[in-house]
Amino acid sequence: MEVKHALKNDLLLKVAKGEAVSRPPVWLMRQAGRFLSEYRAVRKEAGSFRNMIAQPDYAIEVTLQPVDLVGVDAAIIFSDILVIPEAMGLPYQMIPGKGPFFEETIQSERDLDRLHAVQDESNLDHTYQAIEGTIAKLEGRVPLIGFAGAPWTIFSYMVEGSGSKTFSKAKAMLYRNPELSHKLLQKITDATITYLKGQIKAGVHIVQIFDSWAGVLDAEMYAKFAIPYIRQICAAIQEVPKIVFAKGAYFSLVDLASLDCQVLGLDWQMAPEAVAQLAPEKALQGNLDPCQIYADPESVKAATIEMLNRFPKGRHIANLGHGIYPDLPREHVLTFVETVKSFSYL
Ligand code: CP3
Repeated sequence: MEVKHALKNDLLLKVAKGEAVSRPPVWLMRQAGRFLSEYRAVRKEAGSFRNMIAQPDYAIEVTLQPVDLVGVDAAIIFSDILVIPEAMGLPYQMIPGKGPFFEETIQSERDLDRLHAVQDESNLDHTYQAIEGTIAKLEGRVPLIGFAGAPWTIFSYMVEGSGSKTFSKAKAMLYRNPELSHKLLQKITDATITYLKGQIKAGVHIVQIFDSWAGVLDAEMYAKFAIPYIRQICAAIQEVPKIVFAKGAYFSLVDLASLDCQVLGLDWQMAPEAVAQLAPEKALQGNLDPCQIYADPESVKAATIEMLNRFPKGRHIANLGHGIYPDLPREHVLTFVETVKSFSYL
């Protein structure tokens, strides 16, 4: 029988639920990654990034690394937001030094009709197995975060076929063919809800929705093509708290504040004081500029304390303003984490 471990460190969940804490919890977006030599060693053994996702033992190992090596207050399951397009029928490759690449993309109604719902395939099972295995190995040390890409960000990869500075092909589809765009966004939304529910069933304590390319839209386009789908996801997921991180969407903070989620993620360009006022009921996550971590540890410490003081006490989950970069010096990352952990609200 499955053994349920009580959480020994539930700081993150407490903040998400609005309960009192004595210090902010801390974790790092993309914390399981190349800045750790131990991660690179596992990737070498696995042969590729894709194998690490597909084989739960590898995914479990790298999910636990930042908990053991960096001392963060939460684990985030090792996977990628791109497993959803793949589960819907668009496989991708991860090209070292370049990033994701999709051989087939969505350009027409016919392409759209070939996509399937995620129930049709079981290629997300390995992530659910990795979650179960991670929960067992964590033994309640810290909570486990599940995640998915937001529909607009997933849409941009499915239409564009790779990363892009402008996402002009994806944006062109929104302007030229809004009807087809809405159909695709709805399919992605349905798949995402199924996926997040599967992650929750497997044991994640909280979920984060990454809208990494929010910033290429404007307020009107974001309100039309992004917010309604994130709203559907938030409405469907009531089992665990939700974090919504819309990178660069400072033009849509009022809409984001109206979502049924407990936490809003901030990038480093968003002012914590302003968001705290707009969303008085929510906890906030973020938002040190990852590039600040390149500076010497004394500067990292001072900037971290300055950042902590800008967020409302007890309503803050400390993090960077975006994912960690592979070449950030590990010692400086540790300084960031340790500075948060020695901070006290008392
Ligand atoms: O946060 C974590 O530690 C959990 C794992 C995680 C990964 N990707 C692992 C990964 C998470 C939460 C993601 C999310 C993700 N993936 C996002 C949203 C977050 C963000 O940064 O905005 C996006 C846009 C992707 C798509 C993606 N995956 C890109 C563009 C790339 C290549 C860029 C790069 O950093 O090389 C990836 C690859 C990827 N996903 C890596 C990791 C650890 C690097 C792969 C490697 O080991 O070479």
